[in-house]
Amino acid sequence: MNSCVVGLQWGDEGKGKVVDILAEQCDIVVRYSGGANAGHTVVIGDDRFALHLLPSGSIRPDTICVIANGVVVDPDVLSNGIDKLAEKDISMDGRLFISENVHVVLDYHKKEDQLREKALGKNKLGTTIRGIGPCYADKVGRSYAVRMADLRDLKKLKARLKTIVEYKNKVLGAVYGAEPMNADEIFEKCKSYADKLLPFIADTTEYLHTAITSGKSILFEGAQGSLLDLDHGTFPFVTSSNSSSLGMPAGCGVPARLVDKFVGVVKAYSTRVGAGPFPTEQENETGQYIRDKGNEYGTTTGRPRRCGWFDSVAVSYAVTIGAIDSVAMMHLDTLAGLKELKICMAYKINGREKTFFPANTEKLLQASAVYETVPGWDEDLSEVTDFYDLPVNAQDYICRIEELIGRPITVIGVGPKRSQTIFR
Ligand code: GDP
Ligand code: IMO
Ligand code: MG
Repeated sequence: MNSCVVGLQWGDEGKGKVVDILAEQCDIVVRYSGGANAGHTVVIGDDRFALHLLPSGSIRPDTICVIANGVVVDPDVLSNGIDKLAEKDISMDGRLFISENVHVVLDYHKKEDQLREKALGKNKLGTTIRGIGPCYADKVGRSYAVRMADLRDLKKLKARLKTIVEYKNKVLGAVYGAEPMNADEIFEKCKSYADKLLPFIADTTEYLHTAITSGKSILFEGAQGSLLDLDHGTFPFVTSSNSSSLGMPAGCGVPARLVDKFVGVVKAYSTRVGAGPFPTEQENETGQYIRDKGNEYGTTTGRPRRCGWFDSVAVSYAVTIGAIDSVAMMHLDTLAGLKELKICMAYKINGREKTFFPANTEKLLQASAVYETVPGWDEDLSEVTDFYDLPVNAQDYICRIEELIGRPITVIGVGPKRSQTIFR
């Protein structure tokens, strides 16, 4: 059985927790898109792991982890991730495979990301400044791209870096007045990345197909959320990869037809980090209540997350484009204490009600949410393990959302720990 887990909102839905739990049934967990912009949290006992590039199966010592071709890898972040796990006696040796075709995020990518965001001022996208956009741009542009396989031939890489850094210095200097970067320094870093990471490099497409043929079970782990998808999200306020499940086949070379189950992850409300339209946003006491209770601060950047009501128009769209079979809803516990809850069931745009999400930022900015109001609950849910032990209003909330999005909610999160999960 192969499955794929993706976020159905704007990221941070709780994918890390869900992947960690489902990884118990799997042999291999694969990251296939995005980069160190992701922050996936896994909480085990008193330990809290924030994974940026390593798949969320890494914490399980027998799970094979693959970073497939669609990911952009910052070697610094990846090396740190491997070292941090080693400090907890979790070794990645012999069970981490990094595609030789992943593109490498280098200092000039992060610098360009930072300079561009600064120059845009109030029009900035609110990126994570992890160099994601500039690295994917180099991938598409081809001429100045560096892939993991390039670390194998350091002599050739040294010459290429000289050309690339010369070009970057000219562009960043002319556009932003940036100080020039030193190609030799970047090359020296690449040498140390080669020492550390070359033992993990492999042809991951061959590896995955061989594994599938021999009956291994694979879990594909999405990063970001479907509404941040480059082609199908709220462009330009998106990330630079196909972060819905549509990005999975291209991101790892395994066709979607070989995936038995697509699992979508949502929060019981909505959050978004960075700029862009957010029709159900609550810039008020309710939003602050959710932020405080749900600890809604970015795993990667620490930024406060924007918070709002559950949006069934947006989630139904993500379900539809992602061929989602079932849904895991996290953070139900966070809503406790709110007298009433609102669920967005349609948008009003130019006086007309619409239930199909318009992935067009101009239209979305004009959309006002049409809500249904349902009663809340006061009880603490963090110890509940059975759906029927939830307060009736919480059960009804889940069932109403199932009706609106047309898919069963089979996993419910009532806290960050593995044990704080209800299966139906
Ligand atoms: P991801 O990017 O989708 O993996 O999500 P993040 O890790 O960035 O953010 C989700 C946050 O919610 C993390 O701090 C998790 O530990 C936490 N979390 C996950 N599920 C639940 C839940 O059901 N309840 C609560 N209260 N916290 C949760
Ligand atoms: P996980 O995997 C939430 C957002 C950024 C910004 C936009 C573009 O943890 O869910 P980028 O750095 O990708 O160029 O930023 O995308 N973003 C995320 N928001 N969770 C993420 O990842 C995100 N990755 C990128 O905040 O709005
Ligand atoms: Mg996250």
